[in-house]
Amino acid sequence: MRKKSFVLATDLDGTLVGDSGALQKLQFYYKQLALDVGVIYITGRHLASASTLMAEENLPPPDILITDVGTAIYTSHNLIEDQVWTNKVQKSWYPQKINQIAHKFPPLKRQVLPNDKRISFTVYENVEVVNEFKKTLYEENIPHKFIFSSNRDVDILPPNSGKGEALVYALHNYFDKDVQVLVAGDSGNDLDMLSRGYPSVIVGNAQSELIDMNDHPLLYRASQHFAGGIHEAWLHFFK
Ligand code: GLC
Ligand code: MG
Repeated sequence: MRKKSFVLATDLDGTLVGDSGALQKLQFYYKQLALDVGVIYITGRHLASASTLMAEENLPPPDILITDVGTAIYTSHNLIEDQVWTNKVQKSWYPQKINQIAHKFPPLKRQVLPNDKRISFTVYENVEVVNEFKKTLYEENIPHKFIFSSNRDVDILPPNSGKGEALVYALHNYFDKDVQVLVAGDSGNDLDMLSRGYPSVIVGNAQSELIDMNDHPLLYRASQHFAGGIHEAWLHFFK
């Protein structure tokens, strides 16, 4: 649909954003490239929070914005929600049941979010509770996807959602079949999209859960941090 030959599909916090000098350098690099590079931002933030960050950091408007850890997709520069995706992922989604179970685990602090597209918690240095919660959701047969990032954030998502599923859907529906993609991330909620077999980069400042992830032939571990790591990987794959 969009005549782009390349797409940068990147997480925001800790990946594209984190070092403003490196970000400026990367933006300058893309500007002077003769290529028209499409942009997909794929973030854990909700829409308003992602929009604030984009404004604060002066980020170029994306072609596609994927928010809430891959549970919502917004298209065009006007950020119109893709309702087909929303309806599809909400089919087997039981947020109330998840909340009921979570109440049994007081150290899990529910994040205040504008909707229940996903249910997220913050937990401080209590991996046992996270594991118990995970086990209970599984034993109770609640359809879900469990994501633990940065030793702090627990995201419970509809089973057919997540950054990887949303990225595959967005590429399939909004870009040419043979578009070349670079996927970039820094923490646990990015694992799903970094494991899909696309050229992918783990930036140098990544959290331990990504450092430990399995290799695949197109997974590149950058030594540069933040946007510098994306730049390094772009040159590695496409120059
Ligand atoms: C971002 C979101 C938060 C989420 C975390 C991990 O920090 O703001 O809600 O839990 O990413 O996905
Ligand atoms: Mg991140």
